[in-house]
Amino acid sequence: MTPPHSAPPPPPSAAPHVHHPLFARFYARFSVSADTKGGLGELRAELLAGLSGRVLEIGAGNGLNFAHYPEGVTEVVAVEPEARLRRLAQEAARTAPVPVTVLPDTAEALPLEDASFDAAVASLVLCTVRDLPRSLAELHRVLRPGGELRFFEHGMADTPGLARVQRGLDRTVWPLLFGGCHTARAPLVAIEAAGFTLGPYRSFDIPEKGPRLPSSPCVLGVARR
Ligand SMILES: C[S@@+](CC[C@H](N)C(=O)[O-])C[C@H]1O[C@@H](n2cnc3c(N)ncnc32)[C@H](O)[C@@H]1O
Repeated sequence: MTPPHSAPPPPPSAAPHVHHPLFARFYARFSVSADTKGGLGELRAELLAGLSGRVLEIGAGNGLNFAHYPEGVTEVVAVEPEARLRRLAQEAARTAPVPVTVLPDTAEALPLEDASFDAAVASLVLCTVRDLPRSLAELHRVLRPGGELRFFEHGMADTPGLARVQRGLDRTVWPLLFGGCHTARAPLVAIEAAGFTLGPYRSFDIPEKGPRLPSSPCVLGVARR
């Protein structure tokens, strides 16, 4: 009989559970109007312009980026762990201009080979992953040397007052209300810390005018493995 201490390790667990049904319903509606009326569609097109080859997208949500992939992209592998959003992403994949496969995995544990992608895309997701350094380490692992990480993310404000508010919200209601989102993460710092070289990027607010919201400060750009 096999003694308990020499039992084989359990098989790799399925993707960790990400279950935000209320947020998923809200995001499925809000994101579409933000794209069409709030100008996010144009930012998605800017984020993806000029990409080519095999592309990985993490936390694809309802698949709003898919329509914007340029024709030089040969294949998109998208991961989306939330069931409702994943179903919507799979629908969006059917009408995408390039082939898109949607997987149920998380950014922290990509079931993908080392150096197997030319580019990776993170849009409005580094705020939400459970383990940011691990997610970025996974992106670094699956990108080929010289591969691009395209990012469009919101993050910590450069003004102490709003940054203080963001930290308070992150400790209390914000992640509960918005599907695990955090407002005070620093995506550029985290991307560099994961070993990427930052390329051109720009910082701006959404919305551009009016009161600054906790999720207003954004960055959009490129980093290279
Ligand atoms: C604010 S939405 C952004 C969706 C999409 N990227 C976009 O640009 O509209 C954040 C997404 O991250 C997904 N998500 C949550 N935890 C994740 C994880 N650990 N790994 C990958 N995606 C995750 C959520 O289910 C959700 O679809």
